[in-house]
Amino acid sequence: MSSPNDALAVQEVVEAEGHLIDSHIMEQIFDAVVEYGGRFEVEKFSIGRTNSEPSHLRMRLSAPDQDRMRKLLVHLLGLGCSPVDAGDAALAEAESDRCAPEDFYSTTNHRTQVRAGGQWVDVQNQRMDALVVVSGGGARCRRLRDLRTGDRVVVGMRGIRVTPESKERDRLAFAFMSHGISSERQVETAVRQTAALVRQTMESGKKVVVVAGPVVVHTGGAPPLARLIRDGFVHAVLSGNALGVHDIEAALLGTSLGIRTADGRQEEHGHRNHMRAINAVYHAGGIRQAVESGRLESGILFECVRAGVPFVLAGSLRDDGPLPETVTDMNQAQDAYAAQLQDAGLVLCLGSMLHSIAVGNMLPSWVKIVCVDINPAVATKVSDRGTGQAVGVVTDVGLFLELLSKALAP
Ligand SMILES: NC(=O)c1ccc[n+]([C@@H]2O[C@H](COP(=O)([O-])OP(=O)(O)OC[C@H]3O[C@@H](n4cnc5c(N)ncnc54)[C@H](O)[C@@H]3O)[C@@H](O)[C@H]2O)c1
Repeated sequence: MSSPNDALAVQEVVEAEGHLIDSHIMEQIFDAVVEYGGRFEVEKFSIGRTNSEPSHLRMRLSAPDQDRMRKLLVHLLGLGCSPVDAGDAALAEAESDRCAPEDFYSTTNHRTQVRAGGQWVDVQNQRMDALVVVSGGGARCRRLRDLRTGDRVVVGMRGIRVTPESKERDRLAFAFMSHGISSERQVETAVRQTAALVRQTMESGKKVVVVAGPVVVHTGGAPPLARLIRDGFVHAVLSGNALGVHDIEAALLGTSLGIRTADGRQEEHGHRNHMRAINAVYHAGGIRQAVESGRLESGILFECVRAGVPFVLAGSLRDDGPLPETVTDMNQAQDAYAAQLQDAGLVLCLGSMLHSIAVGNMLPSWVKIVCVDINPAVATKVSDRGTGQAVGVVTDVGLFLELLSKALAP
């Protein structure tokens, strides 16, 4: 009869370093080994003795066969646990555009290094679901569609180090986030802490990016969001055609999808109003021109144009119009979003499942996301895609924005 200490056929020694205990990474590592039918033997463990000192783990793994060991190592890599004997990362050339070698390494959103020419180099442009291309001694995340013939792509899982984000040490700033999703009752706390995060982000020279859906306008959130833009707290707005249409409809006609923003009543023939708004923008030649000509005098996009805050409106299958600025080529829309997310320190996702999840996929794990939605499942979905840095505030987005603009009022 075999004892639990008997070694299985295939062995490997792995190491991990970081805040392994209080970030619960250690238990995830052990669970993964068991889940893949393997065994572990801890050879060395030293616990970090201070707030900032990392812990260090070295353990011998056994698995029943090569295939299970390979799958286990891929899983452990995402937890920051990599083989000790790592030489350089293996590279293989792309044979043609957009065609990666079969066993390409697929990235997480965590800080990643690869070993090239005997040196560990930081992977630039970190995001999930990308490949790592090594060139000229550097390494960079590249989306599959951006891969070009001859690119040298990291394959396998050796010579790769991943550092998962550890739990916040400054527990004050992101405290409401430690429990993942905060409920309606805690909304004032969430607003206060979001305001503190906005200030902190700006002090550190990073951008605050707002991702917003049309429900921001429907719930009366347009005036407070416009104020936040005017007061300099927003550095880019990422949205879709609908936000633009309803924001402009509200500014020109005082309705949002035909409902009067002043008293919440249905305006007679109001259902045409969003088309009238689009028509007005077509007449002006575009949103910027509508602002410059004095046709558009208030609203979210008006403040963006006036303050020089970039906005991106991504198209979708259900769009009316669309507005001239709406980017209908989805690859270009993704690129435009990604460009605005460079140097973001905080992203506020406000009432848009589609755009919040899209943005979550583009961000590295050290950029914080506050996801405000009436439906707790949306925040969970953003986290499920691997963006563990997201927390949800379950409340009405109009109310949230009103409180946030008051909390940040100069
Ligand atoms: N007329 C148009 O052109 C038009 C109209 C609607 C949508 N669209 C497009 O369709 C796409 C998806 O639209 P979307 O982002 O609105 O849809 P979505 O379903 O992705 O997101 C809407 C989100 O708002 C949340 N929500 C609803 N009421 C709320 C409230 N009071 N407070 C907080 N959150 C609330 C929902 O739970 C949901 O998660 C976009 O590209 C949009 O531009 C176009």
